[in-house]
Amino acid sequence: MIKKYTYGKPFQTESVVVDIAAEKGQPDHGNIDLTAGFSYTFGLEDSDIVYGLGEANRGINKRGYKYISNNADNPHHHEDVYSLYASHNFIIVSGAQTFGLYFDYPSTITFDVGYTKCDELHIFCDSADLDIYVITGDSPYDITKQFRKMIGRSYIPPKFAFGFGQSRWGYKTPEDFETVARKYRENHIPIDMVYMDIDYMDSYKDFTINDDFGDFSEYVENLKKDNIRLIPIIDAGVKIEEGYDVYEEGVANNYFCKRADGSDFVAAVWPGYTHFPDVLNPEARRWFGAKYKILTDAGIEGFWNDMNEPAIFFTPEGVSELKKAMKKFIEKDETVDDVWGISGMAAGVANNPKDYASMYHNVDGEMVRHDKVHNLFGYNMTRAAGEALREISPDERRLLFSRSSYIGMHRYGGVWMGDNKSWWSHILLNIKMLPSMNMCGFLYTGADLGGFGCDTSRDLLLRWLALGVFTPLMRDHSCEGTRNQECYQFEHIEDFRNVIGVRYRLLPYIYSEYMKAALTDDMMFKPLAFEYPDDRIAAHVEDQLMLGNEIMIAPVYTQNAIGRYVYLPEDMLLVRFTADGSVEQTEMPAGHHFVEVPENEVILFVRSGKCIPVVDVAECVADIDKTTMQLIGYKNSSYMLYDDDGYTREYDLEKNCVTLNKK
Ligand code: GLC
Repeated sequence: MIKKYTYGKPFQTESVVVDIAAEKGQPDHGNIDLTAGFSYTFGLEDSDIVYGLGEANRGINKRGYKYISNNADNPHHHEDVYSLYASHNFIIVSGAQTFGLYFDYPSTITFDVGYTKCDELHIFCDSADLDIYVITGDSPYDITKQFRKMIGRSYIPPKFAFGFGQSRWGYKTPEDFETVARKYRENHIPIDMVYMDIDYMDSYKDFTINDDFGDFSEYVENLKKDNIRLIPIIDAGVKIEEGYDVYEEGVANNYFCKRADGSDFVAAVWPGYTHFPDVLNPEARRWFGAKYKILTDAGIEGFWNDMNEPAIFFTPEGVSELKKAMKKFIEKDETVDDVWGISGMAAGVANNPKDYASMYHNVDGEMVRHDKVHNLFGYNMTRAAGEALREISPDERRLLFSRSSYIGMHRYGGVWMGDNKSWWSHILLNIKMLPSMNMCGFLYTGADLGGFGCDTSRDLLLRWLALGVFTPLMRDHSCEGTRNQECYQFEHIEDFRNVIGVRYRLLPYIYSEYMKAALTDDMMFKPLAFEYPDDRIAAHVEDQLMLGNEIMIAPVYTQNAIGRYVYLPEDMLLVRFTADGSVEQTEMPAGHHFVEVPENEVILFVRSGKCIPVVDVAECVADIDKTTMQLIGYKNSSYMLYDDDGYTREYDLEKNCVTLNKK
């Protein structure tokens, strides 16, 4: 059951797609206090577990820490970071009382989950203008499914987007992209996509292509002949440059965010000074979205939207204040405080709250200060693209994902987890984020495999890929200046070929589970507790996940490990994709086990009485040969396989499902 409570005058985020009448009075669970802003408290029992918050730091169980929804361009995902790129304000308390809470509030809101006081959940924000949804049900899983229905169907990408993609910030010339494609094909490492980071553009101008590419359509087409799609990046900031049509049209039609005095708001990002499209204004959103056609006309079938918190490197106002302070600093004898002060101020010009408070949107003719609706920018930039791509190609799906998001955006695109690092702990963070993301509707998701920042290592990349085999978005991406991270850069290329090959062998299962989850508002990745609610140990396992209804995964995320400890909540079949291409199966009893996992293998566990489809390896999604499909798992089991053409927008669950029986 879902009950809605409205406080003040909430901003309409359009994250919820069903009409629910607001209740009178207060929610049954917890206390609300409106004396200073908005505050919600609930007393936690020792054994309560708190799930949710989507793309957020730390564990599957959010207890013991503090999380702040305030979309941030922060590439340092240390343990003490409160805000990442997204705000997914849905949580579930599971224990003596089990209920879900969704706070539909687009500005900064803090979730203190037993951090300040270990037995108190405290959720608070400055302004008491918000909708709260309280969801009760049989279990956290049931509550999640009710919530998912309430926020609408998750985005569905084309099937090729379930292939592997190679990316790097640093590919610049047409030859760079071709080399990546060629090297993968020459080495027979499966691949479907090569991503284009900002350097494909002319001076980082959105919807332009630098002259080196010549006839871009031809270029795109040539790679497609080899079943490789180019996926370009689009940034939020539109470069200020006379003669650049996107800039000129935006200025002429008042489609950019404004300052208080009505002038266009200016912020520096990669291109230098830019304006931000006012994606909260439906007319501007339509205009910006329509620009994607410039690239789809050239044959492009997918995009990643970036820098859309939006990230601000600095504003002219911020720099001018800094210069004044520097002048004073230069003219006096420095103290320690002066030196730290000026360096702090210089660092503080980026993503400065003062700047977000001096930017405005036009919402139905009313000027709305950006910081009041900050967390909606990435959502609406991606909505602009998603709505436009639907109009441009009504019959065909397009790949689309974003860095920043809010609940509601899951209907238009996926998300990648942003600028992680080549750290072992970030493999674990990747694992933990997956089920929470799914709870909030974000099914098409994955992290930069191998790590974005810092230098990767061969073993780290291999282990991370072995997790990426299971994530819908499977992309190796890295930062300019770091060690080259394409699979062919390392010794024993056959190991990479094998690990990525497993993705293609499992692709019918991954795709089927994704589609079933999307079409029934279900999760693809679940915490073990959602499947084994009475198992006290399973409830606290944070490094293994249920994937679909058939399997459990337990990736290795420790350097130099020869394997790992795995907890089996029931008897399961260990399935090992070995380096020589064979599939070994070992029945294992419920309980604790140490399982050896060489770096060049992928393992998974099939649940009792179930089976999964596995096909022969292919080098791209289009080449997967379904006639090679076999069922791996328990005797006398069956699997409901969903499949479709992979590109139209017709998704008939009944028509597209067949039951496969294993003898
Ligand atoms: C941001 C993105 C990253 C990209 C870089 C350059 O840091 O998160 O993925 O490579 O910008 O465009």
